[in-house]
Amino acid sequence: MSIAIAPPHSPLRAAPQRAVVSPFVVHVGIVGPGKVGSALLTQLRLAAPRLLRHCNLELRLRAVSDSRHMWLDCDDEALNGRTHGAQTWRPAELDEFAAYVAGDRGDPAVLADCSASDLVADRYAGWLAAGIHVVTPNKRAASGPLERWRRIGAAAGASGARLHYEGTVGAGLPVVHTLRDLLDTGDELVAIEGMLSGTLAWLFNRFDGALPFSALVREAHARGYTEPDPRDDLSGMDVARKLVILAREAGRSLSLEDVDVRGLVPDDLAGCSRGVFMENMHALDEPMANRLARAHAAGGVLRHVARLDGHRASVGVEAVDPDHAFAHARLTDNVIRFATRRYCDNALVVQGPGAGPEVTAAAVFTDLLRVAGAMGVKRCAC
Ligand SMILES: NC(=O)c1ccc[n+]([C@@H]2O[C@H](COP(=O)([O-])OP(=O)(O)OC[C@H]3O[C@@H](n4cnc5c(N)ncnc54)[C@H](OP(=O)(O)O)[C@@H]3O)[C@@H](O)[C@H]2O)c1
Repeated sequence: MSIAIAPPHSPLRAAPQRAVVSPFVVHVGIVGPGKVGSALLTQLRLAAPRLLRHCNLELRLRAVSDSRHMWLDCDDEALNGRTHGAQTWRPAELDEFAAYVAGDRGDPAVLADCSASDLVADRYAGWLAAGIHVVTPNKRAASGPLERWRRIGAAAGASGARLHYEGTVGAGLPVVHTLRDLLDTGDELVAIEGMLSGTLAWLFNRFDGALPFSALVREAHARGYTEPDPRDDLSGMDVARKLVILAREAGRSLSLEDVDVRGLVPDDLAGCSRGVFMENMHALDEPMANRLARAHAAGGVLRHVARLDGHRASVGVEAVDPDHAFAHARLTDNVIRFATRRYCDNALVVQGPGAGPEVTAAAVFTDLLRVAGAMGVKRCAC
C-alpha cells in the first residue's frame, strides 16, 4: 500500500505532474514523556522516514513537557536535554508550551497529552478553541466533571479542532472508535459489558485457589502489572472511568458518582499508607477465597466486570459461566462486548491486550494520523 497526501495548499493539486512537493507539516508537542510518552517519541522517530516517503507527511516534534520542565524545539535525540545533553529546558508552563508548538505560521498543531493529569485536561478547552488538536490516553477529561467535558466539546465544535482519545479504553484496542462508528451509522446501543482492566484480568485469570489472592497481587506488583499502589487497580475506579467514557460516547450524561463501584479494598485499608496496605493485604484473602468457593460451587469463575445498560452502570467482581467470553480471556486481555440493535443475537466483541506503553502509544499515534487524515492525508492502494 502506498499513501499520497494532497493538502489543500499542496502544489500537487495545482500541478499534479510535478514530482516533488513540499511535505505536509504537522507540529507536534508531547506532554508527559513517561512510559507512554517515551514509547510515542520512539514510534514517531522510527515512523518518520516512512511517513515522509509514502505520505509526504512530516510530523515535526516541536516540544516536550513533563510536570516541571519543558524542552522547546526538541529534536528528541533521545530527549537529550533530560539527561544533561545539548538541549536546555525551562520551567514548564503549559500555555506557553502550546503557543510554541502552534507557532505563528498557520501549520496545523497537535498536542499529545500522555499524562494522567487533571491540570493538563483543564487546558484542553483553551487549546481546542485556539485550533490546536489534542490526542490523548489520559482519562481525566473524558471521565471528569461533565461541565468541563461539555466545554471541551463546545470548544472543539466551534473551532473545528479535533480531540481523539482512543487510548483511554482498552489501550491499543479499537474500542472508542468502534462504538462511535456503530452509533454514527445509525445503530443503537443496548448494553456494554467489559473486562476493562488488564491488571484485574490477569489477577482473576490466575486466581484459582492455589495461591491466596494477596500473593497474586504481590506477584502482579512485582511484575509491574499494577499501579505503584495496587489499590488504584483494586478500587475499580480506573475501570469506572473507562465505563464513564464509553457511556458518554454513547450520549449518556454519566459521571463517576453514578457508577456503582464495588471495590476490592476493605474500608479500613483504604486510607492508610501504601506500605501499611502492602503489609496487611492478607485481609483480602478470606473474603476472596469465599467468593471463589461460591463461584466454583455454582460452576462459574470470578471475573472483574463493568456493565452499562439503560438502567445502571456498575463495576465489580462477578461469577460468570465457564462458557462466557470473559472466562476464556488470556493474560491481561481486555474484552468489550457491544450489544446493539444490529448486534443483538451475538454481541460485537473487541478483545486483546488492554495495557502496555507501546500499544497505548500506538493508539495515540493512530489518533494523530487521524487528525492528519482529516486535514488531507489520503491513503491509496496504488
Ligand atoms: N501505561 C499504560 O499501559 C497505559 C495504558 C492505557 C492508558 N494509559 C494512560 O496513559 C497516560 C500515561 O501513562 P504512563 O504509564 O506513561 O504514566 P507515567 O509513566 O507516570 O508518565 C506520566 C507523565 O506525565 C507527566 N506529567 C504529570 N503531570 C504533568 C503535568 N501537570 N504537566 C505535564 N506533564 C505531567 C509526568 O511527568 P513527571 O515525571 O514530571 O511527573 C510523566 O512524564 C495515563 O493517563 C495513563 O492512564 C497508560
